Amino acid sequence: MIPATRAGTLGCVTAPVDATATPAWSELSSLRDSFAPDLRDWFAIDPRRAERLSFELADLHVDLSKNLVTDEILAALVRLAEQTGVAERYAAMLAGEHINTTEDRAVLHTALRRPAGAEPALVVDGQHIDADMQSVLTAMTEFATRVRAGEWTGVTGKKVMHIVNIGIGGSDLGPVMVSAALEPYATAGIQARFVSNIDPFDLANKTKDLDPETTLFIVASKTFTTLETLTNARLARDWLWAGLEASGAIDGSDEAKKDAVAHHFVAVSTALDKVADFGIDPVNAFGFWDWVGGRYSVDSAIGLSLMIELGPDVFRELLAGFHAVDEHVRTTPLERNVPVLMGLLNVWYSNFLGAQSHAVLPYAQQLSRFAAYLQQLTMESNGKSVRWDGSPVTTDTGEVFWGEPGTNGQHAFYQLIHQGTRLIPADFIAFANPAYPLEDGGRDVHGLFLSNFLAQTKALAFGKTAAEVEAEGTTGPLVAARTFAGNKPTTSIFAPALTPAVLGQLVALYEHITFTQGAIWGVNSFDQWGVELGKQLALQIAPAIEGDEAAIAAQDASTRSLLAYYAAHRTR
Ligand code: F6P
Repeated sequence: MIPATRAGTLGCVTAPVDATATPAWSELSSLRDSFAPDLRDWFAIDPRRAERLSFELADLHVDLSKNLVTDEILAALVRLAEQTGVAERYAAMLAGEHINTTEDRAVLHTALRRPAGAEPALVVDGQHIDADMQSVLTAMTEFATRVRAGEWTGVTGKKVMHIVNIGIGGSDLGPVMVSAALEPYATAGIQARFVSNIDPFDLANKTKDLDPETTLFIVASKTFTTLETLTNARLARDWLWAGLEASGAIDGSDEAKKDAVAHHFVAVSTALDKVADFGIDPVNAFGFWDWVGGRYSVDSAIGLSLMIELGPDVFRELLAGFHAVDEHVRTTPLERNVPVLMGLLNVWYSNFLGAQSHAVLPYAQQLSRFAAYLQQLTMESNGKSVRWDGSPVTTDTGEVFWGEPGTNGQHAFYQLIHQGTRLIPADFIAFANPAYPLEDGGRDVHGLFLSNFLAQTKALAFGKTAAEVEAEGTTGPLVAARTFAGNKPTTSIFAPALTPAVLGQLVALYEHITFTQGAIWGVNSFDQWGVELGKQLALQIAPAIEGDEAAIAAQDASTRSLLAYYAAHRTR
Protein backbone atom coordinates (compact mmCIF):
# COMPACT_ATOMS: atom_id res chain seq x y z
CA MET A 1 0.00 0.00 0.00
CA ILE A 2 2.98 2.25 0.27
CA PRO A 3 3.39 4.92 -2.43
CA ALA A 4 6.78 4.35 -4.11
CA THR A 5 7.79 7.98 -3.60
CA ARG A 6 7.27 7.69 0.10
CA ALA A 7 8.95 4.41 1.01
CA GLY A 8 12.18 4.83 2.91
CA THR A 9 11.94 8.59 3.42
CA LEU A 10 12.43 10.31 6.74
CA GLY A 11 10.62 13.47 7.58
CA CYS A 12 8.46 15.31 10.07
CA VAL A 13 5.36 13.64 11.39
CA THR A 14 2.49 15.15 9.45
CA ALA A 15 -0.60 16.59 11.13
CA PRO A 16 -3.54 14.19 11.32
CA VAL A 17 -6.23 14.62 8.71
CA ASP A 18 -9.69 15.16 10.18
CA ALA A 19 -11.46 12.07 8.83
CA THR A 20 -14.88 13.63 9.38
CA ALA A 21 -13.99 16.55 7.09
CA THR A 22 -13.07 14.37 4.12
CA PRO A 23 -15.32 13.93 1.05
CA ALA A 24 -15.30 10.17 1.71
CA TRP A 25 -16.78 10.71 5.18
CA SER A 26 -19.63 12.76 3.70
CA GLU A 27 -20.17 10.09 1.08
CA LEU A 28 -20.31 7.37 3.75
CA SER A 29 -22.71 9.45 5.85
CA SER A 30 -25.17 9.71 2.99
CA LEU A 31 -24.78 6.02 2.16
CA ARG A 32 -25.55 5.25 5.80
CA ASP A 33 -28.68 7.45 5.74
CA SER A 34 -30.27 5.30 3.03
CA PHE A 35 -28.71 2.02 4.17
CA ALA A 36 -30.97 -1.04 4.28
CA PRO A 37 -28.74 -4.10 4.67
CA ASP A 38 -30.11 -7.34 3.31
CA LEU A 39 -27.59 -10.14 3.23
CA ARG A 40 -30.19 -12.63 1.97
CA ASP A 41 -30.93 -10.45 -0.99
CA TRP A 42 -27.31 -9.49 -1.63
CA PHE A 43 -26.25 -13.15 -1.76
CA ALA A 44 -29.27 -14.03 -3.92
CA ILE A 45 -28.61 -11.40 -6.56
CA ASP A 46 -24.84 -11.83 -6.58
CA PRO A 47 -23.82 -15.50 -6.66
CA ARG A 48 -20.17 -14.42 -6.67
CA ARG A 49 -20.38 -12.30 -3.51
CA ALA A 50 -18.58 -14.87 -1.32
CA GLU A 51 -15.87 -15.38 -3.92
CA ARG A 52 -15.42 -11.66 -4.59
CA LEU A 53 -15.17 -10.74 -0.95
CA SER A 54 -12.89 -13.58 0.15
CA PHE A 55 -9.15 -13.01 0.31
CA GLU A 56 -6.03 -15.09 0.84
CA LEU A 57 -3.62 -13.55 3.32
CA ALA A 58 -0.59 -15.84 3.66
CA ASP A 59 -2.18 -19.01 5.14
CA LEU A 60 -5.38 -17.24 6.19
CA HIS A 61 -8.56 -17.41 4.16
CA VAL A 62 -10.56 -14.32 5.08
CA ASP A 63 -14.21 -14.18 4.09
CA LEU A 64 -15.64 -10.66 4.38
CA SER A 65 -18.81 -11.45 2.43
CA LYS A 66 -21.10 -11.64 5.47
CA ASN A 67 -20.33 -8.04 6.40
CA LEU A 68 -22.89 -5.29 6.01
CA VAL A 69 -21.28 -3.60 3.05
CA THR A 70 -22.01 -3.06 -0.58
CA ASP A 71 -19.33 -2.49 -3.21
CA GLU A 72 -20.23 1.19 -3.12
CA ILE A 73 -19.61 1.40 0.62
CA LEU A 74 -16.35 -0.53 0.38
CA ALA A 75 -15.12 1.79 -2.35
CA ALA A 76 -16.00 4.84 -0.22
CA LEU A 77 -14.20 3.28 2.77
CA VAL A 78 -11.09 2.77 0.65
CA ARG A 79 -11.31 6.42 -0.38
CA LEU A 80 -11.49 7.30 3.33
CA ALA A 81 -8.21 5.44 3.86
CA GLU A 82 -6.68 7.31 0.94
CA GLN A 83 -7.92 10.69 2.08
CA THR A 84 -6.76 10.20 5.67
CA GLY A 85 -3.28 9.10 4.57
CA VAL A 86 -3.24 5.57 6.00
CA ALA A 87 -0.55 4.44 3.53
CA GLU A 88 1.58 7.50 4.22
CA ARG A 89 1.42 6.88 7.95
CA TYR A 90 2.36 3.25 7.43
CA ALA A 91 5.33 4.34 5.34
CA ALA A 92 6.33 6.82 8.04
CA MET A 93 6.22 3.99 10.60
CA LEU A 94 8.38 1.66 8.50
CA ALA A 95 10.85 4.46 7.79
CA GLY A 96 11.40 4.97 11.51
CA GLU A 97 9.79 8.38 11.83
CA HIS A 98 8.87 9.21 15.42
CA ILE A 99 5.17 8.64 14.86
CA ASN A 100 4.79 7.99 18.60
CA THR A 101 4.81 11.75 19.08
CA THR A 102 4.03 11.95 22.79
CA GLU A 103 7.02 9.77 23.64
CA ASP A 104 9.11 10.99 20.70
CA ARG A 105 9.80 7.44 19.54
CA ALA A 106 9.91 5.43 16.37
CA VAL A 107 7.51 2.49 16.11
CA LEU A 108 9.30 -0.48 14.64
CA HIS A 109 7.80 -3.73 15.91
CA THR A 110 7.65 -4.85 12.26
CA ALA A 111 11.47 -4.81 12.29
CA LEU A 112 11.46 -7.58 14.92
CA ARG A 113 10.29 -10.08 12.35
CA ARG A 114 12.41 -9.05 9.38
CA PRO A 115 14.35 -12.09 8.23
CA ALA A 116 18.13 -12.15 8.64
CA GLY A 117 19.81 -10.36 5.75
CA ALA A 118 16.73 -8.32 4.78
CA GLU A 119 17.61 -5.55 2.31
CA PRO A 120 18.00 -2.64 2.48
CA ALA A 121 19.34 -2.75 6.05
CA LEU A 122 17.28 -0.66 8.43
CA VAL A 123 19.17 2.12 10.22
CA VAL A 124 17.09 4.44 12.38
CA ASP A 125 18.37 7.22 14.63
CA GLY A 126 21.85 5.82 14.04
CA GLN A 127 20.91 2.35 15.28
CA HIS A 128 21.53 -0.67 13.06
CA ILE A 129 18.15 -2.17 13.79
CA ASP A 130 18.53 -5.50 11.94
CA ALA A 131 21.94 -6.26 13.38
CA ASP A 132 20.85 -5.49 16.95
CA MET A 133 17.64 -7.47 16.56
CA GLN A 134 19.47 -10.50 15.12
CA SER A 135 22.07 -10.42 17.88
CA VAL A 136 19.38 -10.54 20.61
CA LEU A 137 17.61 -13.32 18.72
CA THR A 138 20.86 -15.27 18.60
CA ALA A 139 21.47 -14.75 22.33
CA MET A 140 17.90 -15.88 23.09
CA THR A 141 18.36 -18.94 20.87
CA GLU A 142 21.61 -19.94 22.57
CA PHE A 143 20.15 -19.50 26.03
CA ALA A 144 16.91 -21.33 25.22
CA THR A 145 18.85 -24.18 23.66
CA ARG A 146 21.03 -24.54 26.76
CA VAL A 147 18.04 -24.54 29.08
CA ARG A 148 16.16 -27.07 26.94
CA ALA A 149 19.21 -29.32 26.75
CA GLY A 150 19.78 -29.19 30.51
CA GLU A 151 23.12 -27.41 30.07
CA TRP A 152 21.89 -24.36 31.95
CA THR A 153 20.91 -25.70 35.35
CA GLY A 154 19.68 -24.52 38.70
CA VAL A 155 22.14 -23.88 41.51
CA THR A 156 22.19 -27.56 42.50
CA GLY A 157 22.88 -28.72 38.94
CA LYS A 158 19.31 -29.90 38.22
CA LYS A 159 17.67 -29.35 34.82
CA VAL A 160 15.08 -26.57 34.61
CA MET A 161 11.57 -28.05 34.43
CA HIS A 162 9.46 -24.90 34.95
CA ILE A 163 9.90 -21.36 33.81
CA VAL A 164 7.90 -18.62 35.46
CA ASN A 165 7.52 -15.42 33.45
CA ILE A 166 6.89 -12.45 35.73
CA GLY A 167 5.47 -9.52 33.79
CA ILE A 168 2.23 -7.68 33.17
CA GLY A 169 0.36 -6.10 30.25
CA GLY A 170 2.44 -6.44 27.11
CA SER A 171 5.11 -8.30 29.08
CA ASP A 172 2.60 -11.02 29.91
CA LEU A 173 -0.47 -11.16 27.67
CA GLY A 174 1.36 -12.10 24.46
CA PRO A 175 3.46 -14.90 25.98
CA VAL A 176 0.44 -16.24 27.91
CA MET A 177 -1.70 -16.28 24.78
CA VAL A 178 0.95 -17.90 22.57
CA SER A 179 1.92 -20.47 25.21
CA ALA A 180 -1.69 -21.67 25.39
CA ALA A 181 -2.20 -21.51 21.62
CA LEU A 182 0.89 -23.54 20.78
CA GLU A 183 0.71 -25.99 23.69
CA PRO A 184 1.03 -28.99 21.35
CA TYR A 185 4.52 -27.73 20.41
CA ALA A 186 5.76 -27.78 24.04
CA THR A 187 7.51 -31.12 23.71
CA ALA A 188 10.72 -30.54 25.67
CA GLY A 189 9.14 -31.33 29.04
CA ILE A 190 9.50 -27.72 30.22
CA GLN A 191 6.34 -25.90 31.26
CA ALA A 192 5.92 -22.12 31.28
CA ARG A 193 3.80 -20.36 33.86
CA PHE A 194 2.92 -16.69 33.97
CA VAL A 195 2.58 -14.45 37.01
CA SER A 196 1.23 -10.98 36.41
CA ASN A 197 -1.13 -9.79 39.12
CA ILE A 198 0.10 -8.07 42.26
CA ASP A 199 -2.67 -9.99 44.02
CA PRO A 200 -0.42 -12.28 46.09
CA PHE A 201 -2.63 -15.20 45.11
CA ASP A 202 -1.11 -15.20 41.64
CA LEU A 203 2.48 -15.88 42.62
CA ALA A 204 1.55 -18.13 45.54
CA ASN A 205 -0.77 -20.20 43.37
CA LYS A 206 1.62 -20.55 40.43
CA THR A 207 4.61 -21.54 42.59
CA LYS A 208 2.95 -23.70 45.23
CA ASP A 209 3.75 -27.02 43.51
CA LEU A 210 7.11 -26.00 42.05
CA ASP A 211 10.55 -27.15 43.11
CA PRO A 212 12.86 -24.14 43.55
CA GLU A 213 15.80 -26.24 42.38
CA THR A 214 14.24 -26.75 38.94
CA THR A 215 12.51 -23.38 38.47
CA LEU A 216 13.80 -20.50 36.35
CA PHE A 217 12.24 -17.04 36.66
CA ILE A 218 12.16 -14.59 33.77
CA VAL A 219 11.48 -11.04 34.93
CA ALA A 220 9.99 -9.38 31.87
CA SER A 221 9.48 -5.63 32.00
CA LYS A 222 10.16 -3.10 29.29
CA THR A 223 10.74 -0.32 31.81
CA PHE A 224 11.78 -2.46 34.79
CA THR A 225 9.85 -0.03 36.98
CA THR A 226 6.41 -1.64 36.97
CA LEU A 227 5.14 -2.01 40.53
CA GLU A 228 3.43 -5.36 40.01
CA THR A 229 6.37 -6.97 38.25
CA LEU A 230 9.08 -5.77 40.61
CA THR A 231 7.02 -6.70 43.67
CA ASN A 232 6.38 -10.18 42.28
CA ALA A 233 10.05 -10.54 41.30
CA ARG A 234 11.11 -9.75 44.89
CA LEU A 235 8.52 -12.20 46.25
CA ALA A 236 9.78 -14.86 43.83
CA ARG A 237 13.35 -14.25 44.93
CA ASP A 238 12.32 -14.67 48.59
CA TRP A 239 10.44 -17.86 47.67
CA LEU A 240 13.54 -19.19 45.90
CA TRP A 241 15.90 -18.39 48.75
CA ALA A 242 13.54 -19.79 51.39
CA GLY A 243 12.99 -22.99 49.41
CA LEU A 244 16.66 -23.58 48.69
CA GLU A 245 17.62 -22.91 52.29
CA ALA A 246 14.88 -25.17 53.61
CA SER A 247 16.12 -28.08 51.52
CA GLY A 248 19.73 -27.38 52.45
CA ALA A 249 20.62 -26.55 48.85
CA ILE A 250 22.15 -23.21 49.90
CA ASP A 251 23.47 -22.02 53.27
CA GLY A 252 21.75 -18.62 53.43
CA SER A 253 24.91 -16.55 53.06
CA ASP A 254 24.78 -13.48 50.81
CA GLU A 255 27.14 -15.16 48.40
CA ALA A 256 25.01 -18.30 48.18
CA LYS A 257 21.90 -16.18 47.63
CA LYS A 258 23.62 -14.23 44.87
CA ASP A 259 24.68 -17.46 43.22
CA ALA A 260 21.09 -18.74 43.44
CA VAL A 261 19.79 -15.61 41.71
CA ALA A 262 22.43 -16.00 38.99
CA HIS A 263 21.18 -19.52 38.27
CA HIS A 264 17.44 -18.97 38.67
CA PHE A 265 16.74 -15.44 37.42
CA VAL A 266 17.10 -13.85 34.00
CA ALA A 267 15.54 -10.63 32.78
CA VAL A 268 14.08 -9.10 29.64
CA SER A 269 14.06 -5.32 29.52
CA THR A 270 15.03 -2.15 27.72
CA ALA A 271 16.56 -0.89 31.01
CA LEU A 272 19.56 -3.11 31.66
CA ASP A 273 20.90 -0.77 34.37
CA LYS A 274 17.76 -1.34 36.43
CA VAL A 275 18.08 -5.10 35.88
CA ALA A 276 21.52 -4.90 37.50
CA ASP A 277 20.10 -2.88 40.42
CA PHE A 278 17.67 -5.70 41.08
CA GLY A 279 20.59 -8.12 41.40
CA ILE A 280 20.35 -9.88 38.04
CA ASP A 281 23.66 -9.93 36.20
CA PRO A 282 23.17 -8.01 32.90
CA VAL A 283 24.93 -10.96 31.26
CA ASN A 284 21.72 -12.85 31.99
CA ALA A 285 19.49 -10.14 30.50
CA PHE A 286 17.99 -9.90 27.05
CA GLY A 287 17.36 -6.45 25.68
CA PHE A 288 14.89 -4.76 23.42
CA TRP A 289 14.34 -1.14 22.53
CA ASP A 290 12.04 1.80 23.17
CA TRP A 291 10.69 1.52 19.61
CA VAL A 292 8.88 -1.70 20.59
CA GLY A 293 5.60 -0.90 22.35
CA GLY A 294 4.70 -3.26 25.22
CA ARG A 295 1.59 -4.56 23.47
CA TYR A 296 3.59 -5.10 20.26
CA SER A 297 6.44 -6.96 21.99
CA VAL A 298 5.58 -10.67 21.99
CA ASP A 299 7.93 -11.14 19.05
CA SER A 300 10.83 -9.45 20.88
CA ALA A 301 12.90 -10.85 23.76
CA ILE A 302 9.62 -10.67 25.72
CA GLY A 303 8.95 -14.01 23.99
CA LEU A 304 11.91 -15.68 25.76
CA SER A 305 9.62 -17.89 27.84
CA LEU A 306 8.07 -19.09 24.57
CA MET A 307 11.41 -19.80 23.00
CA ILE A 308 12.35 -21.98 25.98
CA GLU A 309 9.00 -23.75 26.25
CA LEU A 310 8.35 -24.21 22.53
CA GLY A 311 11.85 -24.11 21.07
CA PRO A 312 13.74 -21.61 18.88
CA ASP A 313 12.44 -23.11 15.62
CA VAL A 314 8.82 -22.61 16.67
CA PHE A 315 9.59 -19.03 17.72
CA ARG A 316 11.20 -18.29 14.35
CA GLU A 317 8.21 -19.79 12.54
CA LEU A 318 5.99 -17.46 14.56
CA LEU A 319 8.13 -14.49 13.47
CA ALA A 320 7.93 -15.63 9.84
CA GLY A 321 4.15 -15.62 10.14
CA PHE A 322 4.16 -12.03 11.36
CA HIS A 323 6.49 -11.04 8.53
CA ALA A 324 4.30 -12.62 5.85
CA VAL A 325 1.42 -10.34 6.89
CA ASP A 326 3.70 -7.30 7.16
CA GLU A 327 4.71 -7.94 3.56
CA HIS A 328 1.10 -8.26 2.44
CA VAL A 329 0.27 -4.95 4.10
CA ARG A 330 3.30 -3.21 2.60
CA THR A 331 2.83 -4.44 -0.96
CA THR A 332 -0.92 -4.81 -1.49
CA PRO A 333 -3.14 -1.98 -2.79
CA LEU A 334 -5.63 -0.65 -0.27
CA GLU A 335 -8.67 -2.20 -1.96
CA ARG A 336 -7.22 -5.72 -1.55
CA ASN A 337 -5.25 -5.12 1.63
CA VAL A 338 -6.97 -7.40 4.12
CA PRO A 339 -6.01 -5.73 7.44
CA VAL A 340 -6.83 -2.33 5.93
CA LEU A 341 -10.24 -3.57 4.75
CA MET A 342 -10.97 -5.08 8.16
CA GLY A 343 -9.95 -1.85 9.88
CA LEU A 344 -12.20 0.09 7.51
CA LEU A 345 -15.12 -2.23 8.26
CA ASN A 346 -14.60 -1.55 11.97
CA VAL A 347 -14.73 2.19 11.25
CA TRP A 348 -17.93 1.69 9.25
CA TYR A 349 -19.57 -0.22 12.09
CA SER A 350 -18.42 1.99 14.93
CA ASN A 351 -18.61 5.45 13.36
CA PHE A 352 -21.54 5.03 10.98
CA LEU A 353 -23.68 2.15 12.27
CA GLY A 354 -23.25 2.76 16.01
CA ALA A 355 -21.47 -0.46 17.06
CA GLN A 356 -19.67 -0.09 20.36
CA SER A 357 -18.07 -3.47 20.76
CA HIS A 358 -16.49 -6.15 18.64
CA ALA A 359 -16.54 -9.86 19.39
CA VAL A 360 -13.67 -12.19 18.55
CA LEU A 361 -14.82 -15.80 18.60
CA PRO A 362 -12.13 -18.39 17.96
CA TYR A 363 -13.31 -21.92 17.31
CA ALA A 364 -10.16 -23.22 19.00
CA GLN A 365 -9.91 -23.79 22.73
CA GLN A 366 -6.17 -23.11 22.41
CA LEU A 367 -7.04 -19.48 21.65
CA SER A 368 -8.74 -19.05 25.01
CA ARG A 369 -6.56 -16.01 25.80
CA PHE A 370 -6.72 -14.47 22.33
CA ALA A 371 -9.48 -11.97 23.16
CA ALA A 372 -7.66 -10.86 26.32
CA TYR A 373 -4.54 -10.32 24.24
CA LEU A 374 -6.49 -8.31 21.66
CA GLN A 375 -8.05 -6.19 24.38
CA GLN A 376 -4.70 -4.67 25.25
CA LEU A 377 -3.62 -4.46 21.62
CA THR A 378 -6.72 -2.68 20.41
CA MET A 379 -8.02 -0.80 23.45
CA GLU A 380 -4.72 0.48 24.83
CA SER A 381 -3.80 1.50 21.28
CA ASN A 382 -6.96 3.24 20.13
CA GLY A 383 -8.82 4.20 23.31
CA LYS A 384 -7.90 7.87 22.88
CA SER A 385 -9.71 11.21 22.97
CA VAL A 386 -6.97 13.36 21.49
CA ARG A 387 -5.13 13.02 18.22
CA TRP A 388 -1.39 12.73 17.75
CA ASP A 389 -1.03 16.50 17.56
CA GLY A 390 -2.95 16.97 20.84
CA SER A 391 -6.18 18.19 19.22
CA PRO A 392 -9.47 16.53 20.23
CA VAL A 393 -10.71 13.63 18.14
CA THR A 394 -13.61 14.40 15.87
CA THR A 395 -15.44 11.08 16.12
CA ASP A 396 -15.71 8.06 18.38
CA THR A 397 -12.53 6.00 18.68
CA GLY A 398 -11.79 2.48 19.89
CA GLU A 399 -14.19 -0.38 20.37
CA VAL A 400 -14.62 -2.74 23.28
CA PHE A 401 -13.05 -6.00 22.15
CA TRP A 402 -14.20 -9.14 23.87
CA GLY A 403 -14.82 -12.81 23.23
CA GLU A 404 -14.51 -16.42 24.23
CA PRO A 405 -13.87 -19.55 22.24
CA GLY A 406 -16.77 -21.26 20.57
CA THR A 407 -18.69 -23.34 21.33
CA ASN A 408 -18.56 -22.16 24.97
CA GLY A 409 -19.70 -18.68 23.97
CA GLN A 410 -22.71 -20.13 22.17
CA HIS A 411 -24.05 -21.27 25.53
CA ALA A 412 -23.39 -17.94 27.19
CA PHE A 413 -23.64 -14.65 25.27
CA TYR A 414 -24.49 -15.49 21.63
CA GLN A 415 -28.16 -14.94 22.45
CA LEU A 416 -27.53 -11.20 22.64
CA ILE A 417 -25.65 -11.17 19.34
CA HIS A 418 -28.43 -13.09 17.59
CA GLN A 419 -31.52 -11.41 19.02
CA GLY A 420 -30.40 -8.44 21.12
CA THR A 421 -30.83 -4.84 20.09
CA ARG A 422 -27.14 -4.00 19.71
CA LEU A 423 -25.03 -4.34 16.62
CA ILE A 424 -21.99 -6.49 17.44
CA PRO A 425 -19.68 -7.26 14.53
CA ALA A 426 -17.93 -10.56 15.18
CA ASP A 427 -14.79 -12.21 13.85
CA PHE A 428 -14.94 -15.99 13.74
CA ILE A 429 -11.60 -17.81 13.61
CA ALA A 430 -11.41 -21.51 12.76
CA PHE A 431 -8.96 -24.18 11.66
CA ALA A 432 -9.52 -27.05 9.25
CA ASN A 433 -7.40 -29.44 11.31
CA PRO A 434 -7.38 -29.98 15.07
CA ALA A 435 -4.31 -30.20 17.28
CA TYR A 436 -5.62 -33.45 18.72
CA PRO A 437 -7.94 -35.38 16.38
CA LEU A 438 -10.52 -37.38 18.31
CA GLU A 439 -13.48 -39.46 17.24
CA ASP A 440 -16.77 -40.02 18.99
CA GLY A 441 -18.27 -43.32 17.90
CA GLY A 442 -16.47 -43.07 14.56
CA ARG A 443 -17.45 -39.43 14.05
CA ASP A 444 -14.76 -36.75 13.73
CA VAL A 445 -15.38 -34.41 16.67
CA HIS A 446 -13.51 -31.55 15.01
CA GLY A 447 -15.95 -31.73 12.10
CA LEU A 448 -18.81 -31.34 14.55
CA PHE A 449 -17.01 -28.39 16.13
CA LEU A 450 -16.57 -26.72 12.74
CA SER A 451 -20.19 -27.27 11.81
CA ASN A 452 -21.01 -25.02 14.78
CA PHE A 453 -18.72 -22.29 13.43
CA LEU A 454 -20.44 -22.49 10.02
CA ALA A 455 -23.90 -22.68 11.56
CA GLN A 456 -23.39 -19.60 13.71
CA THR A 457 -22.08 -17.37 10.93
CA LYS A 458 -24.93 -18.55 8.71
CA ALA A 459 -27.60 -17.95 11.36
CA LEU A 460 -26.22 -14.50 12.14
CA ALA A 461 -26.15 -13.47 8.49
CA PHE A 462 -29.42 -14.90 7.21
CA GLY A 463 -31.55 -15.27 10.33
CA LYS A 464 -34.93 -16.96 10.24
CA THR A 465 -38.06 -15.18 9.06
CA ALA A 466 -41.47 -15.30 10.74
CA ALA A 467 -42.77 -17.19 7.70
CA GLU A 468 -40.09 -19.84 8.15
CA VAL A 469 -40.92 -20.13 11.83
CA GLU A 470 -44.64 -20.50 11.06
CA ALA A 471 -43.88 -23.07 8.38
CA GLU A 472 -42.47 -25.24 11.18
CA GLY A 473 -45.83 -25.13 12.94
CA THR A 474 -45.19 -22.35 15.46
CA THR A 475 -48.06 -19.93 16.05
CA GLY A 476 -48.97 -16.94 18.21
CA PRO A 477 -46.50 -14.82 20.21
CA LEU A 478 -43.89 -17.57 20.02
CA VAL A 479 -43.37 -16.72 16.36
CA ALA A 480 -41.75 -13.38 17.22
CA ALA A 481 -39.59 -14.95 19.93
CA ARG A 482 -38.33 -17.57 17.49
CA THR A 483 -37.65 -15.17 14.65
CA PHE A 484 -34.05 -14.15 13.89
CA ALA A 485 -33.57 -10.82 12.14
CA GLY A 486 -30.26 -11.82 10.52
CA ASN A 487 -27.97 -9.16 9.01
CA LYS A 488 -25.59 -9.56 11.94
CA PRO A 489 -22.15 -8.96 10.44
CA THR A 490 -19.35 -11.50 10.70
CA THR A 491 -15.91 -12.05 9.23
CA SER A 492 -14.71 -15.63 8.93
CA ILE A 493 -10.99 -16.30 9.21
CA PHE A 494 -10.15 -19.88 8.28
CA ALA A 495 -6.70 -21.52 8.22
CA PRO A 496 -5.44 -25.06 7.67
CA ALA A 497 -4.25 -25.47 11.28
CA LEU A 498 -3.13 -23.45 14.28
CA THR A 499 0.59 -23.58 13.51
CA PRO A 500 3.18 -21.10 14.83
CA ALA A 501 3.22 -19.35 11.44
CA VAL A 502 -0.57 -19.06 11.35
CA LEU A 503 -0.62 -17.66 14.87
CA GLY A 504 1.96 -15.03 13.89
CA GLN A 505 -0.20 -14.14 10.90
CA LEU A 506 -3.28 -13.76 13.08
CA VAL A 507 -1.57 -11.47 15.57
CA ALA A 508 -0.02 -9.35 12.83
CA LEU A 509 -3.42 -9.13 11.13
CA TYR A 510 -4.92 -7.55 14.25
CA GLU A 511 -1.90 -5.28 14.76
CA HIS A 512 -2.44 -3.85 11.29
CA ILE A 513 -6.22 -3.59 11.70
CA THR A 514 -5.52 -1.56 14.85
CA PHE A 515 -3.00 0.57 12.97
CA THR A 516 -5.48 1.31 10.18
CA GLN A 517 -8.18 2.46 12.59
CA GLY A 518 -5.72 4.59 14.57
CA ALA A 519 -4.48 6.25 11.37
CA ILE A 520 -8.04 7.07 10.26
CA TRP A 521 -8.97 8.49 13.64
CA GLY A 522 -5.69 10.41 13.82
CA VAL A 523 -4.73 8.98 17.20
CA ASN A 524 -1.32 7.89 18.41
CA SER A 525 -1.86 4.13 18.72
CA PHE A 526 1.48 3.68 20.45
CA ASP A 527 1.25 5.57 23.75
CA GLN A 528 -0.90 4.75 26.80
CA TRP A 529 -1.07 7.79 29.07
CA GLY A 530 -4.48 6.66 30.24
CA VAL A 531 -2.97 4.09 32.57
CA GLU A 532 -0.70 6.55 34.35
CA LEU A 533 -3.11 8.34 36.71
CA GLY A 534 -4.22 5.12 38.40
CA LYS A 535 -0.60 4.05 38.87
CA GLN A 536 0.27 7.41 40.51
CA LEU A 537 -2.76 7.33 42.78
CA ALA A 538 -2.07 3.74 43.87
CA LEU A 539 1.31 4.87 45.13
CA GLN A 540 -0.28 7.83 46.94
CA ILE A 541 -2.97 5.64 48.51
CA ALA A 542 -0.55 2.91 49.68
CA PRO A 543 0.37 4.81 52.90
CA ALA A 544 -3.35 5.37 53.60
CA ILE A 545 -3.94 1.62 53.35
CA GLU A 546 -1.19 1.18 55.92
CA GLY A 547 -3.02 3.57 58.28
CA ASP A 548 -1.16 6.86 57.75
CA GLU A 549 -3.61 9.46 59.14
CA ALA A 550 -2.44 12.32 56.91
CA ALA A 551 -2.67 10.15 53.81
CA ILE A 552 -6.18 9.04 54.82
CA ALA A 553 -7.28 12.63 55.43
CA ALA A 554 -6.03 13.62 51.96
CA GLN A 555 -8.50 11.27 50.25
CA ASP A 556 -11.99 12.04 48.94
CA ALA A 557 -15.00 11.00 51.05
CA SER A 558 -15.73 7.80 49.13
CA THR A 559 -12.12 6.61 49.26
CA ARG A 560 -11.98 7.44 53.00
CA SER A 561 -15.08 5.39 53.62
CA LEU A 562 -13.67 2.42 51.68
CA LEU A 563 -10.43 2.72 53.66
CA ALA A 564 -12.47 2.68 56.86
CA TYR A 565 -14.25 -0.48 55.72
CA TYR A 566 -10.88 -2.08 55.00
CA ALA A 567 -9.49 -1.06 58.42
CA ALA A 568 -12.57 -2.50 60.14
CA HIS A 569 -12.48 -5.81 58.29
CA ARG A 570 -8.84 -6.69 57.81
CA THR A 571 -7.81 -9.58 60.03
CA ARG A 572 -4.05 -9.28 59.69
O1 F6P B 1 -0.38 -0.86 31.45
C1 F6P B 1 0.55 0.04 31.00
C2 F6P B 1 1.80 -0.62 30.53
O2 F6P B 1 2.74 0.39 30.34
C3 F6P B 1 1.62 -1.43 29.25
O3 F6P B 1 1.60 -0.68 28.12
C4 F6P B 1 2.78 -2.35 29.34
O4 F6P B 1 2.65 -3.40 28.45
C5 F6P B 1 2.70 -2.74 30.78
O5 F6P B 1 2.33 -1.55 31.46
C6 F6P B 1 3.94 -3.34 31.39
O6 F6P B 1 5.04 -2.48 31.34
P1 F6P B 1 6.51 -3.00 31.53
O7 F6P B 1 6.80 -3.99 30.48
O8 F6P B 1 7.37 -1.78 31.42
O9 F6P B 1 6.62 -3.62 32.90
